[in-house]
Amino acid sequence: MGKIRILLLGGTSEASALAKALAGDPRYDALLSLAGRTEKPTLQPLPTRIGGFGGRDGLAKFLHYGEFDLLIDATHPFAARISQNASEAVASLGLLAFSLRRPPWMAQAGDNWLHVGTIAKAITALGTSPRRVFLAIGRQEAHRAEAAPQHFYLVRSVDPVEPRLAVADVQYILDRGPFGIEGEIALLETHRIDAVITKNSGGSATYAKIAAARRLGIEVLMVDRAPAPAMQTVETVEEALATINHLFPPR
Ligand SMILES: NC(=O)c1ccc[n+]([C@@H]2O[C@H](COP(=O)([O-])OP(=O)(O)OC[C@H]3O[C@@H](n4cnc5c(N)ncnc54)[C@H](OP(=O)(O)O)[C@@H]3O)[C@@H](O)[C@H]2O)c1
Repeated sequence: MGKIRILLLGGTSEASALAKALAGDPRYDALLSLAGRTEKPTLQPLPTRIGGFGGRDGLAKFLHYGEFDLLIDATHPFAARISQNASEAVASLGLLAFSLRRPPWMAQAGDNWLHVGTIAKAITALGTSPRRVFLAIGRQEAHRAEAAPQHFYLVRSVDPVEPRLAVADVQYILDRGPFGIEGEIALLETHRIDAVITKNSGGSATYAKIAAARRLGIEVLMVDRAPAPAMQTVETVEEALATINHLFPPR
């Protein structure tokens, strides 16, 4: 048997870690796929393609003509469309697939979380009186803040938010995780933040803001995940490697 052809849908730190592990293993011939959202993506150890496939059917064709043996969906838990496309494409081809998805964060003692279903609902839940909000949701949906322009927003993203938000009081920070707790505490204190809006991404790279909010007694508006499409799911890179081994036992 030749090398096992793997298409790895990425865009997360877990995908990059898995890419590194696959790159070092001669049994695998793996291709990493990125959406192309970030202007300067982290350098990857695997051959990489960038850009959409053209929906579910485009992805199915790509998998078929590329003679892939396995698809691994290691996209972000909030990247719902690509995961839905992936699950439908592999089902139509009868292709082996699983997803690598970090478990969500769970509230612990001292946390003051308000669970909301969407970013728009988080913005509404801030209320009418002006507040000082850390908007740590990336740039794609930052414009939702315009529905409540009475608040101050501290917006952090990897790439600049363009166009700028149509609100009076806003500051932008460009930064890429991982973030540490002391730095996050300093950030929240410096800007006198009284509400943090975040998606429940899970993982360790961006958890420090949650721990910092707990330490300072700040409210967190936690945007919960939508249910993921049905696909076998593992939570760690180690489990992902074990699953590949199980699906394609070494001979
Ligand atoms: N959403 C987040 O909060 C978030 C946070 C961190 C990182 N990311 C990463 O950023 C990327 C885009 O996220 P999103 O929320 O915009 O996704 P999405 O809404 O689920 O996907 C939108 C479209 O982007 C293309 N796409 C998405 N991921 C792709 C990938 N890995 N390779 C090739 N094409 C991809 C697909 O286009 P076609 O239909 O044309 O194939 C898809 O239909 C993903 O790779 C995700 O892992 C997302």
